[in-house]
Amino acid sequence: MHQTPKLSLLIESWTVEHDASQFTSNLASIKKYIQEQAHRDVSSYTSSVFVLTEPGDKVIRGYYSLSSLSIVFNELPEKVQRKLPRYPECSGILLGRLGVDRDYSQKLREETGSRPRLGALLLADAQIRCLKTVRDIGSALLVIDAEMPSDEEQKNGARDPLPFYAKYGFTPLAAHPRRVIKTMRAIAEEFKSI
Ligand SMILES: CC(C)(COP(=O)(O)OP(=O)(O)OC[C@H]1O[C@@H](n2cnc3c(N)ncnc32)[C@H](O)[C@@H]1OP(=O)(O)O)[C@@H](O)C(=O)NCCC(=O)NCCS
Repeated sequence: MHQTPKLSLLIESWTVEHDASQFTSNLASIKKYIQEQAHRDVSSYTSSVFVLTEPGDKVIRGYYSLSSLSIVFNELPEKVQRKLPRYPECSGILLGRLGVDRDYSQKLREETGSRPRLGALLLADAQIRCLKTVRDIGSALLVIDAEMPSDEEQKNGARDPLPFYAKYGFTPLAAHPRRVIKTMRAIAEEFKSI
């Protein structure tokens, strides 16, 4: 009888012991960040980076980064403005990068016969982590800048990530159509049972 292998995965804070040397992505910036920039961002407290690994293994299979930012209040959709206090700037957490190791995801897919959905897993983990963080330091929004792959990257299989974020309730700002937001209130509502 065919048995589907059970997936065992862990998401933890990046440390120097983690290994990104084999990380693959259709988006060059996603690969470059985890291999060359994450160390500096974490050690300077510019961003926090969380990595997806298999328990007992330090090879990075996916990651995301979080830092803080503020958004000009007037640039928020009216629907969002109505639910927030009218300060000139609105506090937010920026999910700066999110990436899945393409070859690893493909390997899991072949082994299990189904999508491992690592991107969805990382995005959910980021939202839950943000919810925990805002109990200590308030932040009204989760913000993502959805990077458009270059023509060359698209030819090699990269897809625009905007529809991926839209699927999980993120909406674009009119003034910056590649910047998507979700209110912490909406995230709290969605993950209230956790
Ligand atoms: C974007 C990314 C993180 C998504 O991760 P993933 O593991 O491929 O996505 P999942 O398998 O978890 O997808 C979950 C759902 O979103 C959909 N989806 C994934 N990527 C999508 C995209 N670019 N556009 C539309 N839908 C997408 C999937 O079809 C799936 O839908 P379903 O629930 O109907 O089956 C991953 O493809 C990646 O690392 N891309 C390169 C880097 C990148 O673009 N990062 C974002 C830059 S800001």
